[in-house]
Amino acid sequence: MSADDAAALLPHGANVGMSGFTGSGYPKAVPQALARRIEEAHARGEPFRIGVWTGASTAPELDGALAKVDGIELRLPYQSDPVTRERINAGTMEYIDIHLSHVAQFVWFGFLGHLDVALVEVAAILPDGSLVPSTSIGNNKTWLDQADRIILEVNSWMNPALQGMHDIYYGTRLPPHRTPIPILAPGDRIGEATFRCDPSKVIAVVETNAPDRNTAFAPPDQTSRAIAGHIIEFLGHEVRRGRLPPELLPIQSGVGNVANAVMAGLEDCSFTGLTAYTEVLQDGMLNLIRSGRMVLASATALSLSSDAAMLFNRELDTLKDRIVLRPQEISNHPEVIRRLGVIAMNGMVEADIYGNVNSTHIRGTSIMNGIGGSGDFARNAYLSIFMTPSTAKHGSISSIVPMVTHVDHTEHDVQIVVTEHGLADLRGLSPKQRAGLIINNTAHPSFRPALRDYFDRACKFSPGKHTPHLLDEAFRLIQSS
Ligand code: COA
Repeated sequence: MSADDAAALLPHGANVGMSGFTGSGYPKAVPQALARRIEEAHARGEPFRIGVWTGASTAPELDGALAKVDGIELRLPYQSDPVTRERINAGTMEYIDIHLSHVAQFVWFGFLGHLDVALVEVAAILPDGSLVPSTSIGNNKTWLDQADRIILEVNSWMNPALQGMHDIYYGTRLPPHRTPIPILAPGDRIGEATFRCDPSKVIAVVETNAPDRNTAFAPPDQTSRAIAGHIIEFLGHEVRRGRLPPELLPIQSGVGNVANAVMAGLEDCSFTGLTAYTEVLQDGMLNLIRSGRMVLASATALSLSSDAAMLFNRELDTLKDRIVLRPQEISNHPEVIRRLGVIAMNGMVEADIYGNVNSTHIRGTSIMNGIGGSGDFARNAYLSIFMTPSTAKHGSISSIVPMVTHVDHTEHDVQIVVTEHGLADLRGLSPKQRAGLIINNTAHPSFRPALRDYFDRACKFSPGKHTPHLLDEAFRLIQSS
């Protein structure tokens, strides 16, 4: 049916589980038709808002369109859309920012309430009724299983060769009947290539033909190249010390420009036979796979620029055997991440002198994007690396601060902090030892004197000397930052 007719089946107040993860595999027609319907209802003075649950961030056609007409009552679990962000920070949209690996089980356990409709983009419907996933998996398996009704968007722009690239695991049980997830290496396939789908729940099938709205990454600049250089030097050092094998351990690379640039930096290093157990596969990682430096990557979504998406489509037949896309509760599963010994590399907004990391908030009260999968990986990784340029907003704000304005990753989950000025390896250090290293190695030279001054005075005047702080002053600094 048409997108308008399908949108007419979504009522005010419904919770809708939509496909979509880091700008890929999201439904492209029905959310926009729904936004038009919501706008008309609001013009008539009728309430019309829905709950939007996704894999992660989507695109202007979904988050942007629905947020623009004030059609979202509650959003979870990760977004990066400017209009949505504005609504959340203005207090007119509720937002639940949870670990990406938790979403599926929160729905299974019933913690999030009832899921009314699944709205999922697929690449094809097979004769037996099973569904070929598109460019992301995210939480789609859970939406299809748990929702009362299903609307499918079948996107004929998607390359039919996608079939066979996905691995959908149906073996998860609820506690106390859980069994181990049988992944022993990043490329292990443990499930099925397609989604199961109960045809009696399908209320609409809408045909589309559109690419994902891919955004370009900022080309690696001097700063991100320097960050990449420090990380590569550090990894080489760990190999020489015998703490990493020559082909390293499976890599996880986070979202954003800096993470993408670090992957680009690996292209020029001497490591070969690399693997990835990650959440998103961005341009930099795709290039590592195309050049042969990376032999295999497991992820839950592609997050490619338009150029890289074209390349991916052209070369899909050869790339397919080297990429596995899984549900996000598996790509981000703490058990598997810990077992494989993943090297996690994630971006951040700021770190404090003791190693606490803020990945999500600006000035403590406004959300930027969300925690995404960074917590799933950071706590369970073999090495947990956080990276950022040492300053933001043209050098006016230090990314290294006395006390972070919001804590996403505690000092216990952060092992390495990197900026363009250097790397602080925090493993085995006490809080005061960490502070010295973080200030000296990673802070921008123009902010180091102020940070040292704060730390010295905190060591003298703080009532407790384990994690010295001048709480009144730290609070004033946060307020005025
Ligand atoms: N104060 C104010 N603004 C800051 C800031 C700070 N300390 N640090 C970064 N920013 C702003 C930048 O100015 C930029 O804003 P702009 O878009 O208006 O220019 C924006 O945040 C992005 O920063 P950038 O330096 O380009 O980094 P990025 O693209 O690598 O993104 C995060 C950094 C932290 C926003 C991003 O990594 C993120 O959302 N992380 C959380 C989720 C996550 O880690 N997921 C991965 C799991 S697999």
